[in-house]
Amino acid sequence: MIYLDNSATTRLDDHVLEAMLPWLREDFGNASSVYSIGRKARVAIEDAREELAHLIGAHPAELIFTSGGTESNNAVLKSMCSAGMVKQLAVSGIEHHAVLHPAEELEKQGIAVYVLPINEHGVVEAWELHPLNSAETLISIMHANNETGIIQPLQDLRATAPNAYFHTDAVQTFGKIPLDCKALGLDFATLSAHKIHGPKGIGAIFIRRGIDFKAHQHGGAQERNRRAGTESPALIVGFQAAARAACKEMDVRGAYMRECTLLLRELLLEKIPLFRFNTPQDEHSALPNIINISFLDAEKLDGEAILQAMDMRGIAVSNGSACVSGSLQPSHVLVAMNRADAEAKAAVRFSVSKDTRTEDIRRTVEVLEAILQEMREG
Ligand SMILES: Cc1ncc(COP(=O)(O)O)c(C=O)c1O
Repeated sequence: MIYLDNSATTRLDDHVLEAMLPWLREDFGNASSVYSIGRKARVAIEDAREELAHLIGAHPAELIFTSGGTESNNAVLKSMCSAGMVKQLAVSGIEHHAVLHPAEELEKQGIAVYVLPINEHGVVEAWELHPLNSAETLISIMHANNETGIIQPLQDLRATAPNAYFHTDAVQTFGKIPLDCKALGLDFATLSAHKIHGPKGIGAIFIRRGIDFKAHQHGGAQERNRRAGTESPALIVGFQAAARAACKEMDVRGAYMRECTLLLRELLLEKIPLFRFNTPQDEHSALPNIINISFLDAEKLDGEAILQAMDMRGIAVSNGSACVSGSLQPSHVLVAMNRADAEAKAAVRFSVSKDTRTEDIRRTVEVLEAILQEMREG
């Protein structure tokens, strides 16, 4: 199989699995237990917390573990709104559904929700935040988009609304481009392990020190009373190993993935007629690993059929967020970028990883060329 859907998830690295295995076998203790195998698990978890916090410019006390990006996003929005800390919520229209759907729920409960527009380059304009600069507002704007790879100007956005609470969903960026929560002045950030060759089902929230963050689920006193539930040392240690490698090799992996997406760009331009890029080429504007395209004659094409035909030929690509794949809804991200509904339905997202081979990219474009030719000739 040729796997070009690394924004949906990535293959678990062997060294990550090796790091996890002892915690699934002999070192199975509960980190809340006082005897030695429990204490051993506690030490491993706190060591991981310290290292992960360091990687994002945070203090270990500012990081809590969760089951992943979805839980982290839900926890930030719901905890802040239901504790009465904020009365209004502002989210960009291109957020992942793990932000948009909790925001919709909170709106039903009486929270004022503003959906921030994006400009033709796919970014939120800083001036849009001027009216939201209040201590009763929580702003949630993703670090980079999972469908287009477009990076948001977080520093400018934060500087425009210094009094508001500011959250970023950094699921697609952590380990791929630098993320320094302190330097960006963030209050909250969402992380997840499985986009950087770590295990699924583990993530974290950065919560700036001093914020009175209320638990979003109740039970034991784990995670400083902020997130009840027995921690999984295996997942946490796997997250640590994946994040350590991703951050250490960020430049090398980034350069390689950029090389792959540049090759993909060139081949698409050479072989595929009637399409446009939804991902800019400039390295400061988009992640190194994602290219999203849509077709100018989209009304004649069936987006799902393109993906199915690619799959039949052993190639895994996506047409947007994996969480909405399969539904016939046009991508809300592309619609927010002013693409017509038909165009937003027939998009293709290619996302590479450090393990992608250049011959996979060549083969993918050859196959896409043949599929489109067949479909267009009807
Ligand atoms: C931007 C973004 N946020 C949140 C999530 C959800 O993260 P998780 O799969 O860890 O729940 C994803 C996953 O696709 C994502 O791309």
